[in-house]
Amino acid sequence: MDYLSELAACISKYTGLEAEETEKMLEVPPNPEMGDFALPCFKLSRTLRKAPPAIAAELSEKIELPGFIERAEVAGGYLNFFMDKLAFIKGTVEKVNDEGERYGSSDMGKGGNVVMDYSSINIAKPFHIGHLSSTAIGNSLYRIYNFLGYNSVGVNHLGDWGTQFGKMIVAYRMWGNKELVEKESVRGLVKLYVRFHEEAEKNEALNDEARAWFRKIEQGDPEATQLFEWFKEITMKEVMRVYDLLDVHFDSYAGESFYEDKMQPVVDELREKGLLKIDQGASIVDLSEYNMPPCIILRSDGATLYATRDLATAIYRKSTYDFVKSLYIVAYQQNLHFKQFFKVLELMGRDWVKDMEHVNFGMVSIENGSLSTRHGNVVYLEDVLNASIAKTLEIIEEKSPDLEDKEQTAKDIGVCALVFSTLSAGRIKDIVFDLDRVLNFDGETGPYVQYTHARAMSVIRKAEGKYDGASADWSALGSDEAFAVSRLLYDFPAAIVRAMEKNEPSVITRHTVLLAQAFNRFYYDNRIIDEDAAKTAARLKLARACATVIKTGLYLLGIKAPDRM
Ligand code: ARG
Repeated sequence: MDYLSELAACISKYTGLEAEETEKMLEVPPNPEMGDFALPCFKLSRTLRKAPPAIAAELSEKIELPGFIERAEVAGGYLNFFMDKLAFIKGTVEKVNDEGERYGSSDMGKGGNVVMDYSSINIAKPFHIGHLSSTAIGNSLYRIYNFLGYNSVGVNHLGDWGTQFGKMIVAYRMWGNKELVEKESVRGLVKLYVRFHEEAEKNEALNDEARAWFRKIEQGDPEATQLFEWFKEITMKEVMRVYDLLDVHFDSYAGESFYEDKMQPVVDELREKGLLKIDQGASIVDLSEYNMPPCIILRSDGATLYATRDLATAIYRKSTYDFVKSLYIVAYQQNLHFKQFFKVLELMGRDWVKDMEHVNFGMVSIENGSLSTRHGNVVYLEDVLNASIAKTLEIIEEKSPDLEDKEQTAKDIGVCALVFSTLSAGRIKDIVFDLDRVLNFDGETGPYVQYTHARAMSVIRKAEGKYDGASADWSALGSDEAFAVSRLLYDFPAAIVRAMEKNEPSVITRHTVLLAQAFNRFYYDNRIIDEDAAKTAARLKLARACATVIKTGLYLLGIKAPDRM
């Protein structure tokens, strides 16, 4: 609960209004002499049938003020509240330091399973920059839900089924060889795939061959299966390298092929319920009543589609995990797909579809000539991460050449810069990366926040063992800067809940930037360590609380907070 709602709850006991309504009424007065919050009582005169000044006077007698409000004063029709700032600061800082890295966590999720489908890469296709959003948003939500007492279940819904694997096999057998693919890995496979399409334009028969090879995969033919598994292995090896860099994990890699034998019951059910229509040989669910194109379930040759697999997947996830929520972290290009198959589930009578959500996001591109042209139009995520790490290493060599563990720190910062920037704007915004900007240590960037954390840790290290025993003189935190920091510390738990409710990690990104900025203002205006041990002790407590909350904030975004930079 944040302090506004705490105050509103105290007032509400005497107004007969809901706390939420009261909270909306509270204003922040235009100047500090009029208090920190004001209740305009004329808004209550209708319900309480009294003149506003009389209401203000009566309330000022009756209300039991929360600890952080020092006094309430009547001013005409207003009741003005003055915070006891030092009590508020002390209470907040001590709470953060007592709870440490658990500060902001809760058990509100009561252990309910939240299934998250994120990253969900495609086999034998590039793991490109566009996958960063899904991977980073999913990883962050995974941590946020767990922190709030849910049980996150991370699923990488691998794109590992479909006729394209028949094409891959044809291309490999005609133009590829083992050494080449082993050397070039996924890039080699992608080249073969591109070549297939070029050649198939001239030679239609290749497509028939591809279909035949895909059928062989379906039927478990040894050669086809072996090649197919090998393509998977090669892709996964490359993908795991990136996941290791990003510190991202999954509880399940059940992808599209996993549902191969789970679709027939879905098709049967659709047919029994009279939902299937035959349209030019294909089996579809007509959605015209809902202003959507039909959802295609079976092609005219009987083949299943992406949507068919997603229907089977959703039903499987419900029966396996009995989720309280099921999230799909997928780009907005697939908005229609999700709307369609959610609607089909609803028509099938699966009322739990209300607990499913398409957590969509905008496009990602990069503003950096060399990276965007090296491999045609595709920008491989691993290349971008490595470029960011290399650039960070240059900056470290220049700014802090004596740092221990430069390589690891460069990794932590270089990855952070990209992830933080991905999670900075609201999800739905398109993003254009510019490496110089995301690595700017003075901008509203990940490295700036990490640096602020390292700065707080460095002060704490310097003071270690010298001031720990001193009893704190909280009057050292009487400044506006210290108050601003404390408000942000106080609001942190509510920010996490808001991020969860909207499935929007940017709420936390924003909060950590504001906290870092507030702490830096405090830091520049105060020498944290000086001759006065008791005052130093109080300032150190504030620094420690900031470091803790920044670290937790970064953790919830999937980012490391090195102690030294
Ligand atoms: N592999 C798909 C893609 O890259 C994303 C899969 C998302 N998950 C799902 N259940 N449809 O576009």
